[in-house]
Amino acid sequence: MARIFSGIKPTGHLTLGNYLGAVRQWVDADQHRADALFCVVDLHALTVDHDPARVRRLSRQAATLLLAAGLDPGLCTLFVQSHVDEHTRLAYVLECTATDGEMRRMIQYKEKSARERAAGGSVRLSLLTYPVLMAADILAYGADEVPVGDDQAQHVELTRDLAVRFNQRYGRTFAVPKAVLPLVAARVMDLQDPTSKMGKSHAETAGIVYLLDESDVVRKKIMRAVTDSGSEVVYDREAQPGVANLLEILAGCTGRKPMEVAAEYSSRGSSYGALKKDTAEAVVELLRPIRDRHAQLCADPSYVDGVLREGAGRARGLARPTVDAAYRAIGLLPPV
Ligand code: TYM
Repeated sequence: MARIFSGIKPTGHLTLGNYLGAVRQWVDADQHRADALFCVVDLHALTVDHDPARVRRLSRQAATLLLAAGLDPGLCTLFVQSHVDEHTRLAYVLECTATDGEMRRMIQYKEKSARERAAGGSVRLSLLTYPVLMAADILAYGADEVPVGDDQAQHVELTRDLAVRFNQRYGRTFAVPKAVLPLVAARVMDLQDPTSKMGKSHAETAGIVYLLDESDVVRKKIMRAVTDSGSEVVYDREAQPGVANLLEILAGCTGRKPMEVAAEYSSRGSSYGALKKDTAEAVVELLRPIRDRHAQLCADPSYVDGVLREGAGRARGLARPTVDAAYRAIGLLPPV
């Protein structure tokens, strides 16, 4: 059976982008067809300026939302990264496999470090080494597949490179994983700026739909989405990024292809307004049950604790032998 690993970072409230780009595949497909592990990667949330109480709160909220969205602890393993020491143990060994140049080429590092510097802040060293910790997350479990949105593809490529390099130098230790991207909505864009990704840690929130937004808020955000000049609904990411984004979201919510959806609107001569209204309703219907279930789960925190405790226990047992093997292979003396 294939092994799958993926993670989500508690740096903000989960968004529609996280759901359509990643979580939905985990729930609908991955947990049913493979040995799947899903992780709230809280250590990654410390790579940028953070408030400790908020990270703790968001970690719990992310785990609760993943259960609310349909992850079933009877089918998959859900846990919190910092509860399993093997991630940081392995990260160091992989830092000794990666190069400084490789890290500096990572797009997310370039973008985020530039943003931090522009805001007058300093850049944490962990922001640079973050992709190595992500590689450790994946390689510790011998994952074959990593279901992610488009923005994480480069990090998974790096993970593959590190696995191959380590195996060549020190003997076969790691499975070489591959990224699996959704066919639709692999990069959901900000509704107010459809040329940039809908990101959970952005300061401007008008263009971001959060999974916990009330229905009226969702409607308002989508009805106010920036669209393009012209009026015919066509799917063209370059020329009409705003409309293309709405088409991707609507297609993602209804399990269709954006091209097909666009053709339907243009054959009816429908306007952008109709597209926005239908998209808003589709998202409202998608999120309502998740929000309801989240409220129920919040009333039972001991259930969520139990899931995370069991998940961490299983994860530890799986990761330990691989990380021990990597320590031996790279030349560390086993404890006596
Ligand atoms: P994170 O927390 O930013 O995002 C979690 C998942 O959601 C996807 N995603 C999107 N997909 C489509 N459109 C968007 N606008 C959008 N925004 C986010 C991301 O691609 C991701 O799949 N580094 C990772 C977390 C991580 C991880 C891992 C993932 C750490 N270790 C190991 C996989 C395997 C991150 O920051 O994701």
